[in-house]
Amino acid sequence: MSSSSVLTSIALESLPKLTSGKVRDLYDIDDKTLLFVTTDRISAYDVIMGNGVPSKGAVLTQLSAHWFKVLSDRIPGLKTHFLTLQPPAGLSAADKAVVHGRSMQVRKLKVFPVEVIVRGYITGSAWNEYKKEGTVHGLPMPTGLQQCSKFPKAIYTPSTKAELGEHDENISPEQAAKILGDKYASRIEELALKVYNTAAEYAAERGIIIADTKFEFGLDEETDDIVLIDEVLTPDSSRFWPADEYEVGRDQNSFDKQFLRNWLTSEGLKGKDGVEMPADIADATSARYLDAFKRLTGKTLDEALNELRA
Ligand SMILES: Nc1ncnc2c1ncn2[C@@H]1O[C@H](COP(=O)(O)OP(=O)(O)OP(=O)(O)O)[C@@H](O)[C@H]1O
Ligand SMILES: [Mg+2]
Repeated sequence: MSSSSVLTSIALESLPKLTSGKVRDLYDIDDKTLLFVTTDRISAYDVIMGNGVPSKGAVLTQLSAHWFKVLSDRIPGLKTHFLTLQPPAGLSAADKAVVHGRSMQVRKLKVFPVEVIVRGYITGSAWNEYKKEGTVHGLPMPTGLQQCSKFPKAIYTPSTKAELGEHDENISPEQAAKILGDKYASRIEELALKVYNTAAEYAAERGIIIADTKFEFGLDEETDDIVLIDEVLTPDSSRFWPADEYEVGRDQNSFDKQFLRNWLTSEGLKGKDGVEMPADIADATSARYLDAFKRLTGKTLDEALNELRA
């Protein structure tokens, strides 16, 4: 099987699977190491489509790896879970072919059970709350913000990490501190804002607005370090807007999922499980992921994958 096949389900023969998320499968390499394998599954309106998006798993993996490097260069002392894009030595040749480009070895860590969201612009659930209450995650906000306005400063707006099938719930930083513990809460907030601001500046230079994003952090129990884990700053974990189309006072086009969302809405399939996307919708979506990758990394996905082979 070539790595360019579209894969929505992956079962490796030479490693034990630990868990499957909406998009990623986690395999156990050893006590301290995981193989993060990103499938081509896509979710929209909180449900997963029946078929996949070509190249999506590789884009998410290579883009996260790119960010880990950019962020580590720009934020002194930043710790991440990233180890290598190369597969572990013990993987069978068949498994290596399956995961090529879409896998990353990472440090296995204790995950802090909070979705660490940072918002630079007001949209989505934050905009809905503001319209009703004048607050965002319970935080007081200036009056007169319009839809998709830029906040004066990026804000930390955590949410709970819901079990599969449940919805995350927006919470205040104080509520998050109760879950995270006072010892870690303020360090996590400070780190998340630093990572967001660094990334937003980098993306802005490349024509992309990162309206908001979700981070996850883990704890290195040996050193007590807070570590940036999971995928980072991908179109799946963030709202990317094309900067040249940005206009305050209205909803923005999503960089990646707009075709899919429009199609689901027009077909009356919004929120239905296992919907099969027509090839033109899957391909148009793929093209947007590849475009975001090129803009942010300065290279094509093929170039990145060839470097990996070299
Ligand atoms: N270094 C790490 N050690 C242990 N677990 C990790 C690490 N990095 C990420 N994870 C966990 O791996 C999983 C990644 O899988 P995936 O993103 O598909 O699942 P999900 O987060 O449940 O779904 P979604 O992102 O669509 O809400 C998450 O549960 C995340 O918390
Ligand atoms: Mg996830």
